[in-house]
Amino acid sequence: MLQPKQLGYLALDVANLESSLRFYQDVVHFEITEERDGAVYLTGGIQHHWLILKQSDTPGVSRVAFEMANPDDLEAIEKRLRSAGVEVERGGSLARDRVDQYIRFRDPDGIMIELFTDMVTMPMPPAYAHRVHMSKLLHTVLLEKDVNKSVPFYTDLLGFQISDWVERSAAFMRCGDHYHHSLGVFGTGGTRTSIDHVCILVPTLDDLMRARANVMALGVPFRNDLLKHAPSGSIAIYLRDEANNLVVEFCWEHGQILDDAHRPRVLPAMPETLDMWRLVGPSHGKGLPSRIDLVGGSGAPRIGGDGGQAHPMSESQALNSLGVRDSDGAQLTKAK
Ligand SMILES: [Fe+2]
Repeated sequence: MLQPKQLGYLALDVANLESSLRFYQDVVHFEITEERDGAVYLTGGIQHHWLILKQSDTPGVSRVAFEMANPDDLEAIEKRLRSAGVEVERGGSLARDRVDQYIRFRDPDGIMIELFTDMVTMPMPPAYAHRVHMSKLLHTVLLEKDVNKSVPFYTDLLGFQISDWVERSAAFMRCGDHYHHSLGVFGTGGTRTSIDHVCILVPTLDDLMRARANVMALGVPFRNDLLKHAPSGSIAIYLRDEANNLVVEFCWEHGQILDDAHRPRVLPAMPETLDMWRLVGPSHGKGLPSRIDLVGGSGAPRIGGDGGQAHPMSESQALNSLGVRDSDGAQLTKAK
């Protein structure tokens, strides 16, 4: 199937390179592989980079990159994009970019997307500070203005497959590595474009708990502490890179979908979709919990209160129910 193989890396422009480097080394356990031309390359695996940090007066995510399996697939998607009228830039140099070939283009909200082939492989994996081993850079979730424009762009032109919907306001999409999602797109109802979070898959529960212990020891704020997602089945923590207004997730046991005939489910925009462990409180066993105002007011989860009556909710309420708040997400300042 013509589609990306997996999420490759994020390029992040930062206001303070030194403090951002400390964060991604001490809190996220990445290792520096190279510093060149004002850019610092970091990784959590055998690949040359999962993250590029660059000092900038206009901070934000500048690029989201996915890896293609081979140059033929890259060329085939390039043709598809060009024939759909998408402006595509082609480049790539192992010496300069540490990837052999790439194409870059903007998605419907103006986010710069890169597809590349053949990133440099490091001779050895990182040393894994604090014994937090990492399996891969797993997924990113984008907040886009209109899912009805963005989701078809990613499915029809780039070949992503929808794994699950959250009602019709968010889509989780998979690609060649078969993990439940390499990309999520949440609709914001036309209010903003940003990146919500990036997720790192760890191989064992011990790695997740060591990452969590380190976050707590360093006093880094969680957006969400331990929870279990209904869509993918993963157990996760979300921590805040406050300086860059970005959220980093560590997760364990993220499911794969191996059946190409998989029919996407339509999950409810309810607290339990974000966290299957949230069935607590006075309404438990008395019908469905309330669907709204999960993180409103003090930010404390509130469940119950309407007897489980289903009622329409806005896209921003749906995002709230999934733990995404208006203040979250690095602004994509490079968007056109
Ligand atoms: Fe995630």
